[in-house]
Amino acid sequence: MSRARVAILVSGRGSNMAALIDAAAEPGYPAEIVAVVSNRPNAGALAVAERAGIATAVVDHRLFPSREAFDAELDRTLAGFSPDVVCFAGFMRLLTGVFIARWEGRMLNIHPALLPSFKGLDTHRRALETGVRLHGCTVHLVTEEMDAGPIVAQAAVPVLDGDDEESLGARVLTAEHLLYPRALALWASGRARLVDGKVVIDGLDEPPAPFIWP
Ligand code: GRF
Repeated sequence: MSRARVAILVSGRGSNMAALIDAAAEPGYPAEIVAVVSNRPNAGALAVAERAGIATAVVDHRLFPSREAFDAELDRTLAGFSPDVVCFAGFMRLLTGVFIARWEGRMLNIHPALLPSFKGLDTHRRALETGVRLHGCTVHLVTEEMDAGPIVAQAAVPVLDGDDEESLGARVLTAEHLLYPRALALWASGRARLVDGKVVIDGLDEPPAPFIWP
């Protein structure tokens, strides 16, 4: 079976990127990571990708006069790697409608909350302030509206009474590293697909028992 070609967009340390690279190194994984592209030249993710032998590129947003100009170069750079799927992994740029329209249906993002709750930034702080008992992360398709595209998969973690942003964030991040490779495998293999604006998934096993907390 031919494997889907995946490019990963990063801005920072790249722990989710590393989880995807590790998963794709396993035999039988339905995707290969062909490139990592960063908008920040000093992103820690770049060194991690290079050590794994993956092609990297930098499109530094500070060097472009407008969002349109940055997006056009990002588009050219990505297209050079001919990816079937583009995974956003801690990529901290909002993209223009033109870019989104060109890649729509091929872009996945991981968001550190159970969408549609807590879109945007500071999700762990807001989850703690709200007093939710379950928090988590979501892999979704990227559409023009931020954090609002069709949901592929989610993972839930408990919120403990003694949690602060750091402890809760670390618990969610552990879940992210499990969820993103799984969601990418479902999408890249074609088992997860878009039907009438929602994702349907073929051939799922029996679901686990309800996760109740506390
Ligand atoms: C993750 O929490 C991800 O959900 C969010 O940004 C963070 C990136 O972390 N979008 P890393 O660069 O993958 O370590």
